[in-house]
Amino acid sequence: MTTAADQVLEGLFSEAGLDDPYRYYAELHKLGPVSLLEGGGGYAAVVTGYQAADQLLRDPRFRVADDEFSDELGGVGWREHPVLAVLNNSMMYSNGARHQQARRLFHQVFTPRRVAELEPAVGQLVDGLMDRLAERFDHDGEADFMTEFAYPLPSGVVAALLGIPQDDLAWFRPRVERINDFLDVVGKTDEVLAAADQATRELSDYYRTLIAERRKAPTDDLISQLVEAIDAGLHKVSDYDLICNLLVLFNASFVTTIHLIGNGMWLLLDRPELRPAARSAAFVEEVLRYEAPVQFVARWSEEAASLAGTVLPPKEVVLVMLGAANRDSQRFPEPDLFDVDRPNLKPLSFGAGPHYCLGASLARMEAQIAFPRLLERFPSLRSARPPVRNPHQFLRGFAAIPVTLT
Ligand code: HEM
Repeated sequence: MTTAADQVLEGLFSEAGLDDPYRYYAELHKLGPVSLLEGGGGYAAVVTGYQAADQLLRDPRFRVADDEFSDELGGVGWREHPVLAVLNNSMMYSNGARHQQARRLFHQVFTPRRVAELEPAVGQLVDGLMDRLAERFDHDGEADFMTEFAYPLPSGVVAALLGIPQDDLAWFRPRVERINDFLDVVGKTDEVLAAADQATRELSDYYRTLIAERRKAPTDDLISQLVEAIDAGLHKVSDYDLICNLLVLFNASFVTTIHLIGNGMWLLLDRPELRPAARSAAFVEEVLRYEAPVQFVARWSEEAASLAGTVLPPKEVVLVMLGAANRDSQRFPEPDLFDVDRPNLKPLSFGAGPHYCLGASLARMEAQIAFPRLLERFPSLRSARPPVRNPHQFLRGFAAIPVTLT
């Protein structure tokens, strides 16, 4: 048996949905803030209403998929897969005490001041990448904005934050992507899992070496501070826990911010009338609402739990559609309109509740520096050819945005 929501989801998880998920979200909104699914596919329900999504994410009954859930779902075999073992041990896939311990450690060293201190480094990275873009324009007449800018900026920034040498990034990126391929809701094959396992082994070894080096000779980077805080005995976090969290933090920062930068740039290319607004913090916020880089997150509950009048079944995955919540007309009038002057603009793009994005202020800062500088340096920047969509449903953005100068 299938429900009306199952049918909409079939469209959403197709080529057409990749291109334009919003028409499917609009259909789901008509069915209510929460819709039960029966058609299989591994999900029990979708939450699309803004208020319902916000409420669910703050409700301790709803947990991220953790060890216990993996045991319920597929037996204990996940422990033999490094990618699953590492993810499950990280804050992103932990609830309760383990989650709090890791968050506390990171909050101690990854402070607003630390983010502010990174501003000059972000500015320098932006300027360096613009020089490379300029060279491409001189040389080839056009460049792919994703490859030349949106891609290297956030990975360069997170590397600067953590203390990973910039020269190591070319080695890092393909490995991070293999893990990312595995995280997508569709296309989880044995090969994808094996590649993600291998990437996890290699990245874990890398971090293990870096931690040992920083322990011996600390610098002013975040890894040194994390190690110092652990060694001071104030946190119940082991080196293995730290590796798991570093791996997830790098991945979470880089694969998402790429799309904030890419989606914002595409809007500026496609609708030049938005350019005067690109200097404002509200522009970045509206890009986040309008084209959320993370389209959904997942939760489950031990017991049946009621949300917005619908009873969600126990021990099953509920998809919280952040991209749909951001287009809920009850919360954002005329949701399909891009409008930087919206009052009380608080998109759910960074989630809500205990798992609220650890790097939200860093991502915002990167975008707030990047857009105005790009437009100032390249006022005649325009699209050279249609952009190519990123094939992931979970992460909304582009694989390529060819740009040129007029
Ligand atoms: C535009 C860029 C970004 C977006 C859209 C984004 C989105 C999100 C979302 C939706 C969550 C919540 C996941 C959930 O509730 O299950 C999250 C969590 C997280 N994000 Fe981000 N993120 C971005 C950038 C970053 C950056 C720059 C960093 C690190 C420097 C980062 C690190 C994390 C971490 C570690 C978590 C897990 C927090 C926890 O589980 O307690 N993110 N992010």
